[in-house]
Amino acid sequence: MFLWGTATAAYQVEGAVEEDGRGFSIWDTFAHEPGRTRDGHTGDVACDHYHRWREDVELMAGLGVNAYRFSIAWPRVQPQGDGPVNAKGLDFYERLVDALLERGIQPVPTLFHWDLPQALQDRGGWLNREISEKFADYAAAVADRLADRVPLWITLNEPFVHMAYGYAMGIHAPGQALLTDALPAAHHQLLAHGLATRALRAAGARQVAITNNCTPVWPASQQEADLKAADTYDILHNRLFNDPVLLGKYPDLSAYTPTLDFLQDGDLDIIATPLDALGINYYNPTRIAAPTDDGLPFSDAGITGHPTTAFGWPVVPDSLRELLTGLKKRYGAALPPILITENGCSTDDTLEDDARIEFLDGHIGAMRRAMAEGVDVRGYFVWSLLDNFEWAEGYHQRFGLIRVDFETQRRTPRASYRWLRDFLKTQNTDT
Ligand code: NOJ
Repeated sequence: MFLWGTATAAYQVEGAVEEDGRGFSIWDTFAHEPGRTRDGHTGDVACDHYHRWREDVELMAGLGVNAYRFSIAWPRVQPQGDGPVNAKGLDFYERLVDALLERGIQPVPTLFHWDLPQALQDRGGWLNREISEKFADYAAAVADRLADRVPLWITLNEPFVHMAYGYAMGIHAPGQALLTDALPAAHHQLLAHGLATRALRAAGARQVAITNNCTPVWPASQQEADLKAADTYDILHNRLFNDPVLLGKYPDLSAYTPTLDFLQDGDLDIIATPLDALGINYYNPTRIAAPTDDGLPFSDAGITGHPTTAFGWPVVPDSLRELLTGLKKRYGAALPPILITENGCSTDDTLEDDARIEFLDGHIGAMRRAMAEGVDVRGYFVWSLLDNFEWAEGYHQRFGLIRVDFETQRRTPRASYRWLRDFLKTQNTDT
């Protein structure tokens, strides 16, 4: 069955940050620090999905999707990041899973979508190797409760962005700006992924995947300095996370870290534990030029000549085909089936979101072309079901098929919701 779904993440939609024993996460801390998010927005209430999830499941049923990707908040399950499980936290996800299944919607939980328990950050967060083991314990606790009903699990969401924005540049929680010294945060996330994959399977999970966000990298010119910078960027953004998982080795990182002193014997075998699928989040390609003097080994040359989303991101649908066929070329038989775990765009605050319809139509077409070229894609999830808390941008970027009025929490389906609903009626999900 091809999975057609929508996606959200806990901190972006749930709210209810102090309810039912939830502990603090790094995003609670970060969003409440002055100047970190636009207009000081926080996820304290977000879409109030923690209370309105029934309505949201009904909206999904009305849309006709057969899958829903959401994330489980680690601080709801283990408020301190380790130790006893908070049963009430798991109860929430169990109710959600059961309601989805009743509606014929397959739950696809992600175990980590950036909301690390603050108590673990106080011990170094992903710079501390111990956190990897703790993540595996948490994964096992969730699977113990839900693996009988949840067939497919995603360990991490976009470890690249969490490392780059959270630890290298400081624009997301936990707000550290370590540049290339952030690399251990990549390794420890990857190790956590491998350990959790094993723990999930031991607890009865049938299928496990990781979600990496990938971007085709276009050199700004054919000059050597630009080509080298583009290769560097490709290594850091794409290969740093795909190579160890799929090939059991790191790409050449000697330019950034002459000694991989965080790497221990056996780590790569754990990280390369075979997967059932590779989740890909795709938004846009990236054009890279030689470094400027900001300390980074590349610079973003920007892309012109294409439409842009409300966020200013270039809209280049065929680049999704380019990405998928490129992955197949690079990894060959080592590439498992692919799930597009996120794709979508922000638009102006309108109900007549023709730009989103065009975006989705174009990208689904590009995915299909990649499939016709032999790439095994098994699912496509629109980001997002609802307008929600877009991290450092607060509520200013609207990605929803459904508009949310954040004053009243009223949900109003957009034109794109109706378009997708009609499109899904034409799809044979048995193939
Ligand atoms: C990827 C992230 O996983 C998600 O949390 C975010 O909202 C979207 N990209 C849009 O930026």
